[in-house]
Amino acid sequence: MAELAIRTNNLTRKFGSFTAVDNINLEIKKGSIYGFLGPNGSGKSTTIRMLCGILEPTSGSGTVLGLDIARDNDEIKSQIGYMSQKFSLYNDLTIMENLEFYAGMYGISGAVKKQRIEEMLTMAGLKGRENELTINLSGGWKQRLALGCSILHNPPILFLDEPTGGVDPKARRMFWDIIYSMAVQGTTIMVTTHFMDEAEHCDEIGFIYQGGLIASGTPEQLKENITGTLVEISAADPIEMLQSLNSAELPLLDAYVFGSKLHVLVNQQNLLQLSSWQYKIIAPTMEDVFVQYVKHHRKEGDI
Ligand SMILES: Nc1ncnc2c1ncn2[C@@H]1O[C@H](COP(=O)(O)OP(=O)(O)OP(=O)(O)O)[C@@H](O)[C@H]1O
Ligand SMILES: [Mg+2]
Repeated sequence: MAELAIRTNNLTRKFGSFTAVDNINLEIKKGSIYGFLGPNGSGKSTTIRMLCGILEPTSGSGTVLGLDIARDNDEIKSQIGYMSQKFSLYNDLTIMENLEFYAGMYGISGAVKKQRIEEMLTMAGLKGRENELTINLSGGWKQRLALGCSILHNPPILFLDEPTGGVDPKARRMFWDIIYSMAVQGTTIMVTTHFMDEAEHCDEIGFIYQGGLIASGTPEQLKENITGTLVEISAADPIEMLQSLNSAELPLLDAYVFGSKLHVLVNQQNLLQLSSWQYKIIAPTMEDVFVQYVKHHRKEGDI
């Protein structure tokens, strides 16, 4: 069994009577990329903040590299890289000044500092632009600079909280290339996102919904757990199409609007009953998978 970098046991955080993170059990392998996915307000940042030793759990426990998140939080802070959702670069400083500031925060100096800053500039593609003001950088460059600042001390674990929010698809792809190469070199990476397509880049995924971990596994495992065949039906008005499909009272497992199309989950043997609709069998996206887990979770809750 692979060594674990992060482990939690019924990790819980309440704010007053509201439970933001509810008895979460995580096992994240060393050197893996773990995607933590869930809608707005589901508890992703709260979980990350507890793992980084910034926020105390209300109950439950957890370890990061064997260190206790409640007791050894100072030690944890020096061992990890953390790029928060609202990453804090100093806009009125230059790129170099930001890197130097963070180097100071991590206690890096002398030749090591010079070397690490060089490496970070190369990684971020910002070499030659050291003296530009940070405020003038576009979102994608800022994001890579923020990453550089958070890994100057070469941490074995990196927490990225929605690193690709608000940046364009090209910058997102470039960012993921960097993440991959870090994982290849042995860094454990926990990344939150609500871009479901980014989940495909991860070794393992956890779905968090209303504070609870409702599913976890590799992207393939999670997809395999979905019963039925997924088909896509094109429609000028998908909502109207959904109504007409529903009123036909077919034996469907599920039907929902997906962008400008309709997605229908049906048992293989009932596919023929859809023949009057122009359907196409498709592979489920991670978003389809998430929809199914949430629905399953809700049903269980109703019992
Ligand atoms: N300091 C706090 N005080 C009170 N409630 C809080 C606090 N921090 C978070 N919450 C609440 O806990 C819930 C989970 O918040 P959290 O920020 O962890 O969600 P998230 O999954 O990161 O969402 P997003 O995708 O929007 O970043 C939300 O309902 C939020 O309002
Ligand atoms: Mg968040």
